[in-house]
Amino acid sequence: MTSSQAAFQAYMHDNSPALTITKNAGGKAIVTNTNSTLVLVNKKRELDSTYTPKDLVVAKVTFSFSGTSPKQQLRAIAAQALEKLFAGAEKDNIKLAAVSGYRSYASQKSIFDNYARKNGEDEANTFSAHPGQSEHQTGLAMDVSSASVNYNLDESFGESKEGKWLAAHAADYGFIIRYEQGKEGLTGYMYEPWHIRYVGVVVAQQVKKNNETLEQFLAKF
Ligand code: DAL
Ligand code: ZN
Repeated sequence: MTSSQAAFQAYMHDNSPALTITKNAGGKAIVTNTNSTLVLVNKKRELDSTYTPKDLVVAKVTFSFSGTSPKQQLRAIAAQALEKLFAGAEKDNIKLAAVSGYRSYASQKSIFDNYARKNGEDEANTFSAHPGQSEHQTGLAMDVSSASVNYNLDESFGESKEGKWLAAHAADYGFIIRYEQGKEGLTGYMYEPWHIRYVGVVVAQQVKKNNETLEQFLAKF
């Protein structure tokens, strides 16, 4: 093993799901590596309700809406990668639009509660996360769409040329398609061709190559 391979193994080990979880006073399983770009947040691993990333910045990319909003933000490293991703798309004549990035615990709560009122809690939770369980609170996830599908966040984006470009190239910029088709049982959510999650180039490329979920990938270390 080379020293860089050993460093990678050690880094992965430090972020292994088994070592990055604790119970809070209410008995909830709370992630401890909040600052890591490999933080695993899902239905079994929550962010504390008070958690806010310290380094949020507005991503300098095209958005689907005008005006300013907290959801234009990502953590600095993810914002920079998103800017490169959008520039790479532009070079290939692909016009992407960012729709929703960082969401606070409170804003995720209001989104989820709205869906739960309309669809019932169980149905809502197949496509929307309970507050504390959303990757959007990490500042590492962005929903991306395009004008060609009216900026909708639905499966039509996955069929569009922009969605196909994103699936093919996101990993080269450090992002994974987090909720893949056919992986609903592993991720807990429906297919979301629009939701990309920053994990860094090395991990993104391996996840893509292995056709794994982030859960499957991280469980190996
Ligand atoms: N739509 C994803 C699962 C979220 O609400 O974070
Ligand atoms: Zn999303």
